[in-house]
Amino acid sequence: MLFKFKEQNIMKNDIGEAKGKLAVLIPGMGAVTSTLIAGVEMYKKGIGKPFGSVTQMQRIRLGKRYENRNPLIKDFIPLSDLNDLVFGGWDIYDDTIYQAALKCEVFAEEQLRPVKEELSRIKPMPAVFDKKFVKNLNPIIMKKAKTKMELAELLMKDIKDFCEKNKAARAVGVWAASTEVFIDESDVHTSLKKFEEGLKKNSPYISPSMIYAYAMLKMKVPFAMGAPNLSVDIPAMMELAELNHTPIAGKDFKTGQTLMKTIIAPGLKARMLGIKGWYSTNILGNRDGLVLDDAGSFKTKEKSKKSVLASILEPELYPELYSDLYHKVRIDYYPPRGDAKEGWDNIDIFGWMNMPMQIKINFLCRDSILAAPVMLDILLCMDLAKRAGLKGIQEWLSFFFKSPIHRPDLTPENNLFIQHVKFKNTLRLIMHEEVLDHSGLDYYENRFKPIQAKPPKKTK
Ligand SMILES: NC(=O)c1ccc[n+]([C@@H]2O[C@H](COP(=O)([O-])OP(=O)(O)OC[C@H]3O[C@@H](n4cnc5c(N)ncnc54)[C@H](O)[C@@H]3O)[C@@H](O)[C@H]2O)c1
Repeated sequence: MLFKFKEQNIMKNDIGEAKGKLAVLIPGMGAVTSTLIAGVEMYKKGIGKPFGSVTQMQRIRLGKRYENRNPLIKDFIPLSDLNDLVFGGWDIYDDTIYQAALKCEVFAEEQLRPVKEELSRIKPMPAVFDKKFVKNLNPIIMKKAKTKMELAELLMKDIKDFCEKNKAARAVGVWAASTEVFIDESDVHTSLKKFEEGLKKNSPYISPSMIYAYAMLKMKVPFAMGAPNLSVDIPAMMELAELNHTPIAGKDFKTGQTLMKTIIAPGLKARMLGIKGWYSTNILGNRDGLVLDDAGSFKTKEKSKKSVLASILEPELYPELYSDLYHKVRIDYYPPRGDAKEGWDNIDIFGWMNMPMQIKINFLCRDSILAAPVMLDILLCMDLAKRAGLKGIQEWLSFFFKSPIHRPDLTPENNLFIQHVKFKNTLRLIMHEEVLDHSGLDYYENRFKPIQAKPPKKTK
């Protein structure tokens, strides 16, 4: 089975090399952002390896198994080189990235020392902020304007100035700012025209993250949402992304407990083991934890964390196994832990003849250490998507998100393993390579004819 972008007429041109600097524009320069930038600078100096990054560390199989073609993804697809990334962004605090990295205590001071100069050069631009959407933070630097449209225009100017100053060939945006309070989609979000009127009339239903998303997409900058905010997934933004031929993706980086959930749940379901209850709790002491201590922001996060199980387990198709599942998610702000989050899961399962069993998971993770490589992969792939001529929702990047944005008439795909196949097959499509269905039947079709194996090629 051979699908190719060329044959499907999705991608008309071959994708070129990623030449020149890539501006990485980030609303929110806190723990995840400073961990990402510190890690990239350490890597550039040969101090550390980008473990956890799929684009940097993973290989992709091409062709038949006997061909032994397994290049690293970064050697297979023309991604931006990490040396070509220039970081900039916005925050409500004026800390440099070095100060932000020290404060969030992900890396120790001595680990940061070799990259202190590089990190100290990066200072946030004043944010677009509204305390109604993030209750537990008090801004030091923020933009002021009469209307939300003017705020969007100020952001567009920042984007333009940053790219010019840094001689960037392209730009990409990723939200790594705080989780905003939960809001429902409303009339002002339903079309670009209504949204733009709302911006001019200061609609209370337009959040800061929507203003950033609008500014990015107006500037044709691909934009991904790293928090669970209602933002780039409203119809108005989808319309703008299509109109401006720009990719969008989100929401909520898939790390920690939800990563574990989307690894374990598909396995239990694949073996038709039933689940009665799934209790998840976390303690977390960083600024993200403080923001999530507010009920409004927690509701946004809770919805994102809870949505994964139903779409993986499909209780409507397997009511006897999954329709009675009680799913509970808690996050407790506990300052002594800082960024070193601890998650507990208790899973009540049942098997043969209804016999009950339990699984306990205690994940002592580091939030930003898990999130930084995910953010790196997302920004590199969003830039790739734009150069490949893709626009609108990038569902193939679901692999990296807790609540993947999807076409409204489709159910989301949350199973990590299906997401992984989707991700790799899309890369194969982009590069005009054969899509793999993994059935393996073709190896056995002419059983009595010896297969002419090619000598294995050396991988890089
Ligand atoms: N760390 C993880 O594993 C993980 C996983 C999924 C999602 N997330 C999300 O990623 C985001 C970043 O996480 P973090 O741990 O770096 O949080 P953080 O609190 O350390 O950093 C967020 C930063 O955003 C700033 N901010 C708030 N509102 C802003 C605005 N309107 N414009 C610009 N800056 C603004 C805050 O001042 C803060 O410095 C959070 O929304 C979090 O929920 C994190």
